[in-house]
Amino acid sequence: METQKLTSTREGVAKAAAILTRGGLVAFPTETVYGLGADARNDLAVAGIFEAKQRPRFNPLIVHLPDLTAVEAIAEVSEVARKLATLWPGPLTLVLPRRPDSGLSELVTAGLDTIAVRVPAHPLAHELLRAFGGPVAAPSANPSGKVSPTTATHVLDMLSGRIDAVLDGGPCSVGLESTIIGVDPVAAMLLRSGGLAIEEIEAVLGQELTIFGGSDITAPGQLKSHYAPDSGMRINADAPNQDEAWLGFGPVVTDQPSLNLSETGDLREAAANLFAYMRELDTIAARAGLDKIAVAKIPMQGLGVAINDRLERAAAPRP
Ligand code: TXA
Ligand code: MG
Repeated sequence: METQKLTSTREGVAKAAAILTRGGLVAFPTETVYGLGADARNDLAVAGIFEAKQRPRFNPLIVHLPDLTAVEAIAEVSEVARKLATLWPGPLTLVLPRRPDSGLSELVTAGLDTIAVRVPAHPLAHELLRAFGGPVAAPSANPSGKVSPTTATHVLDMLSGRIDAVLDGGPCSVGLESTIIGVDPVAAMLLRSGGLAIEEIEAVLGQELTIFGGSDITAPGQLKSHYAPDSGMRINADAPNQDEAWLGFGPVVTDQPSLNLSETGDLREAAANLFAYMRELDTIAARAGLDKIAVAKIPMQGLGVAINDRLERAAAPRP
């Protein structure tokens, strides 16, 4: 894949939006850092983000939107959240309850029922979100373990050949990731410090922020409880037993109740289906009177690493 460098013109923005519409990956500037964007409703496109970043885990992603009205279409906005939303557009991310009818890919929230949302202030980000007209999932546009990029050149140095395009909006003014606040109906909690000062947030809130856990939380989404099927899970299986439903990968013939992550053995397709199929198969198994799921072996390469990480955690003994 050749990565296009798009300029900050109307034409550049239109091209970037068209790439998002067809399920491609576009890095774009925000005032904090460059994000690696994909259509947040498109499972395969979102799987592509994890593939390009070579992430060993599926952590939940921030969804970028042009304004509060667009946020309300995918998340429940409480009174406390509404106060904080007066700080938008800006380097602030709110973690809110996800609306059941949000239409978002389950991979975006990594199976959580909350959603991280943000209205960025960068004019080019805003133009792109308007032109595209849908929710854009975007982590920082760096490979896993590398520093977040603050110029289009940084993005190209790290991701050239792995993404469709980068929209060049010059250097990011803030240069630090957004501050993340978890909001429940009554309180607000600092999940990650970042580009918006705590004092500014507390001033708007009229109360002190609760600080979550230790001081150095880099991936708060990892700390939340993750969805695990009610059924017991047995991974790396060759075939299902009589008392098991089957989560397949690659061509498999079985008479047991089953779903197939990818019949052709395509890891991106498997990643795109993973969260939804775990839930669905849990229901299918229960209906068939089974309480166990066997999962086919998934190769430990590319997206297979993150898929196996997720499956291992779902299969781990419950407390
Ligand atoms: O400034 C930023 O926030 C940049 C720009 C591109 O918007 N984005 C960014 O994304 O830093 P990322 O993926 O590198 O970091 C997102 C953080 C992760 O630590 C993730 O665990 C957390 O947000 N997160 C996402 N959804 C969450 C949720 N539902 N609950 C708790 N944490 C969540
Ligand atoms: Mg990051």
